Amino acid sequence: MKQATKFVHAGTEPDPSTGAIMTPIYQTSTYVQEAPGKHKGFEYARSQNPTRQALEEAFAIIENGKYGLAFSSGVAATDAVIKLLQPGDEVIAANDMYGGTYRLFTKVFEKFGLKFHFVNMHEANNIASLINKNTKLIWTETPTNPLINVVDISAVSAIAKKHKILLAVDNTFATPFLQNPLDLGADIVMHSVTKFLGGHSDVIQGCLVMNDKELREKLYFIQKSSGAVPGPMDCFLVLRGLKTLHVRMQRHCENGARIAQFLRKHPKVGKVYWCGFEDHPGYAVAKKQMRDFGSMLSFTLKNDDVEEAKRVLSSTKLFALAESLGGVESLINHPASMTHASIPREERIKNGLTDSLIRLSVGIEDADDLIEDLNKAIG
Ligand SMILES: Cc1ncc(COP(=O)(O)O)c(C=O)c1O
Repeated sequence: MKQATKFVHAGTEPDPSTGAIMTPIYQTSTYVQEAPGKHKGFEYARSQNPTRQALEEAFAIIENGKYGLAFSSGVAATDAVIKLLQPGDEVIAANDMYGGTYRLFTKVFEKFGLKFHFVNMHEANNIASLINKNTKLIWTETPTNPLINVVDISAVSAIAKKHKILLAVDNTFATPFLQNPLDLGADIVMHSVTKFLGGHSDVIQGCLVMNDKELREKLYFIQKSSGAVPGPMDCFLVLRGLKTLHVRMQRHCENGARIAQFLRKHPKVGKVYWCGFEDHPGYAVAKKQMRDFGSMLSFTLKNDDVEEAKRVLSSTKLFALAESLGGVESLINHPASMTHASIPREERIKNGLTDSLIRLSVGIEDADDLIEDLNKAIG
């Protein structure tokens, strides 16, 4: 199946009992058994649910993987991957990524004896020097949130394979429309489904996709044992969202490119971070591993003044000032005080995330209207 067909049909078959074309919302906590242990494959809804099962199949199909698992949030999916590890194990993670992932690693898991190293993965070779016999996982995100750095997944995967280390890639910003990390050698793909996959700002959800059966069994065991599963209504909403992912992403990418070009020419704008610019340090890798450049971008004002940035953040009318991203509507965000506030300031600044940085999630509205909105707000 070609990509567009996959997005429309992945995981969904007409319901066997009625022929309903949309997968029903199986709003149930348990399933009646004929005799002890004699059932239809469904025992208790934390372990199995038909709506969730359809969605998990869909996740696997759209990421070119064999197995999908759905979680109650993106961080719950990340949490499940880290629970594969033992005290004493070490993780090498990107130094520029979603603040909540950093918080989970450092504030929740470090105290259980896991060690996290944060490194700039723009140069894949930076990773090799941190590897030792305890290194069990490499965690990366590309393009990164919010600085839109690009990590060469094939290059990182070659290092991970050489040392028999698992590689997990957070594919939230790119989506399977733009890039498929499993095809580039990753072992696990993670998504904050909350974002582009759901696409309508109405669901919190996460997922993992993998090819290895043993890895799937371990992660399924963690999913049911820790219990961070999404409800059937949320699974239904995401099944519906996936059907239009390719159409939404096309418009997201077109609008993202228009806005990036507009910002770059604006006399009051300083730096614009978007991986579709030919002089972006990750452009060549992005061109190689992605099908387009996406609609996530960040920028600073020329004077780099925090108060001026805050004024812009509060002045847009179409771009709503809110956390999150990837919905049909455009959002504007202040990473330093919102999505990335959990990263210590010195750490943020060291990695280029300044107090005046503004992040945009460009939606699928008319690009002219979006440009006018930004133009008025920047002044
Ligand atoms: C790149 C990235 N990964 C993971 C997450 C966490 O996902 P969730 O908010 O669904 O738990 C986010 C949330 O903003 C994100 O942007």
